[in-house]
Amino acid sequence: MNRRDMIRNGLTLGAGLAAAPQRLLAAPVDLSFPADFAWGCATASYQIEGAVTADGRGATNWDVFSHTPGRVANSDTGDVACDSYHRYAEDIALLKALGVKSYRMSIAWSRIFPEGRGKPNAKGIDYYNRVIDALLAAGIQPYVTMFHWDLPQALPGGWQNRNTALAFADYAGFMAGKLSDRVHDFMTVNELRCFTDIGHQEGRHAPGLKLPPAQVNQVRHHGVLAHGLAVQSIRAHAKAGTKVGIADNTTFYVPVIETPEHIAAAKKATRENNAMFLTAIMEGRYIDEYLAQEGANAPKVQAGDMAAIGSPLDFVALNIYAPEWVRADAGPKGYATIPHIASSPRMASPWLVVGPEVAYWGVRMVSELWKPKVLYISENGASADDPVNDGRIDDADRVMYLRNYVGQFHRAVADGYPLKGYFLWSLMDNFEWADGYTKRFGIHYVDFATQKRTPKLSAAWYKEVIRRNALV
Ligand code: NOJ
Repeated sequence: MNRRDMIRNGLTLGAGLAAAPQRLLAAPVDLSFPADFAWGCATASYQIEGAVTADGRGATNWDVFSHTPGRVANSDTGDVACDSYHRYAEDIALLKALGVKSYRMSIAWSRIFPEGRGKPNAKGIDYYNRVIDALLAAGIQPYVTMFHWDLPQALPGGWQNRNTALAFADYAGFMAGKLSDRVHDFMTVNELRCFTDIGHQEGRHAPGLKLPPAQVNQVRHHGVLAHGLAVQSIRAHAKAGTKVGIADNTTFYVPVIETPEHIAAAKKATRENNAMFLTAIMEGRYIDEYLAQEGANAPKVQAGDMAAIGSPLDFVALNIYAPEWVRADAGPKGYATIPHIASSPRMASPWLVVGPEVAYWGVRMVSELWKPKVLYISENGASADDPVNDGRIDDADRVMYLRNYVGQFHRAVADGYPLKGYFLWSLMDNFEWADGYTKRFGIHYVDFATQKRTPKLSAAWYKEVIRRNALV
């Protein structure tokens, strides 16, 4: 009996509780994952490396932003962060102790091309060669993201300039050529909505701009174009068989009640509200609803752009955290979103509303809408207050969060969706962007005064999940 059938049977037996309670007790609930499921952890260069002037690294938008008074909580910067640039061997030992077989990391573009383009910096390339070789020696397969928000400051106009997309493709192809003898999976960019909208519309992230709608749409276009051109460039430079995808934080709409009408509403909301990002990438066009809504503010598109943006992917990776709730509605859109209510459970970051169902529905929505060959969860995790008691960090709230989300990913796997791996955010506490070091997402506690790393209760839980290859 396969896993799916077991779960079905469990439900069937549950329905027959009154008639045959003894059968319910005997019903096996299989919480295991497929044997080749890739359990991993995720981090990103600017959030952990520090060493911002070491070995020829060029300045980035986040160096400038974090050094601008008032931009980051406590005026924190990534200057030192977790000092992983020097302590990567220790961090790989943490991964090994957990038993993960996979690790998602990002490359700092400005360590490779300090000016964003031009002459490569051998010392920067050497650093990532050392990290990757050490991971492989520890039996851990690296999944490499080319851009996780640290943009070389020297690129004129940043993401407002179309040339940045072209420079990104050149850099991504160059690095894939250097690494694809050992790295089999590359992600182009991380979280389109964050480095475009939060940086250029809301102004809460680098470069801290509040641009008008037409310019925001143009920045979004350059973001998806950078992704698409990089897919082509990685394929042109990497070893045959290298897999390319994206790590996106698609906004997911969860049906308030699992009925066909609410599910259809959630699907429509997911497709339309991600029209400028994942929908454009998966469909190779801006859908009519988006173009009609934006009118004269729609992005200026050049010949060939949409074909590049729609380049076929080997996998889609999703960062899944907070849900949006949606219901069917009689109005012209056919759906209505339900605003988060003050009493909704949240983790330590105010935006991190807890709604484990988004894990299942995120995977299902993307699968039903666009049928990707393979899906990964490139990030999932939670901030928590993490009190330290006699050297112990018993983050029971993070364990609760993770257990519930992983349970919903299990449901997606059991339903047959092609989810092949999970990267927990994050291996350790790190620089949480505008929140600086005030929000901790790690399953290892970092004392930033001493750089000591201590496993939290959640690390013990995750280790057990990996050991059993099952939800614990
Ligand atoms: C998504 C981002 O990719 C990552 O950099 C960030 O730290 C986590 N979410 C938590 O906010």
